[in-house]
Amino acid sequence: MQENTQENMQDNTQREQNEPQALDAHASVMTREVVELFAPLGEGLVLDATFGRGGHARALLQETACRIVALDCDPEAVDYGNNEPFFQKHTKRFSLKQGFFAQSASLLGEENLENLDGVLFDYGLSSPQLDNPKRGFSFQRQGPLDMRMAQTGPSAQEFLEQVSEQELAQTLHLCGERKATRIARALVEARTQGTLPKDTLALAALVRAQNPRRTRIDAATKTFMALRIAVNVELTQIAQGLLQADRLLRAGGRIVTIAFHSLEDRIVKRQFATWTGRDSTGCSRHRASAQDLPNNETMRPSHERMPPREPYRSLLRRARRASEREVAENPRARSARLRAVEKLACTSFSGNALSSKASRAA
Ligand SMILES: C[S@@+](CC[C@H](N)C(=O)[O-])C[C@H]1O[C@@H](n2cnc3c(N)ncnc32)[C@H](O)[C@@H]1O
Repeated sequence: MQENTQENMQDNTQREQNEPQALDAHASVMTREVVELFAPLGEGLVLDATFGRGGHARALLQETACRIVALDCDPEAVDYGNNEPFFQKHTKRFSLKQGFFAQSASLLGEENLENLDGVLFDYGLSSPQLDNPKRGFSFQRQGPLDMRMAQTGPSAQEFLEQVSEQELAQTLHLCGERKATRIARALVEARTQGTLPKDTLALAALVRAQNPRRTRIDAATKTFMALRIAVNVELTQIAQGLLQADRLLRAGGRIVTIAFHSLEDRIVKRQFATWTGRDSTGCSRHRASAQDLPNNETMRPSHERMPPREPYRSLLRRARRASEREVAENPRARSARLRAVEKLACTSFSGNALSSKASRAA
């Protein structure tokens, strides 16, 4: 588990313990940085793949000349955006559609919007999703075990009714839950006895009972996060979303991501490393000194020794963090990691984390 997952847990626990916010409020993270990265695109077309409450889209419409096409898988977010007077006033430069970003190529293809200059991903949940008890994401407010961002497909309740003990333990372990095996066993036992929790508070109580040691982070935090990630297939969505962005982006186009925990960030970091020819330490994979080359290589003319050209370049040397001031105003920003790359060549690159077959199928 990397540090920022822990930070994210703490921030969410703090958020959970605070008073509920207005149901439509979401404080966007690192908006200044997002605007600065997309402003050079002029009137370019930017996909906001995670519209949420439109904070980033609004800032881009106000502070740049970009045109925005936005997606969100949550029908509530799309309803909000389509009925918001600000966005209604900007229909010449703005449109919003419901759908998963792993399917953005076909969703945008329907509108003939296949040539993008920018793509923004701001992963995870919006505050209105977390704060609405009926959505079932919160372990401190009574609600159904739903957790579906798109409000379709199997809910967390259905997932718990069907998942094997082994798969459940693995799912919890992936999110860093130390008592994964114990919690999975307790849940499967409860299922066998017909006492599987039916709401968020009952589930949180069962999980806390497996880990009575009190810590700063609520003992139910990681289980809720793991279930949410599994129910929404979030990690696959992130990997496929990046490949779709690559298919849609023109040369000179930019991809900007904001991740809130290490599971999200690791997928982005690896994909960007593949695209930019950097290894995980940030060094070029092709940077070889003359001593590293076989004898006959050093004798070759330099143009023949040029490394293969990578399809992207990094716009930031490493992930950017939110400023202290922003973190003071919005604790959720503390765990944010912003990354950005720019496409150099027109052709899509097949060397990606998933196979190119998978990207075409998505
Ligand atoms: C952190 S919020 C985005 C907030 C937004 N940038 C703002 O400034 O208001 C993430 C949003 O992405 C949406 N989302 C998450 N996964 C998605 C996916 N695979 N496809 C489309 N939307 C997704 C969620 O429903 C949520 O509304």
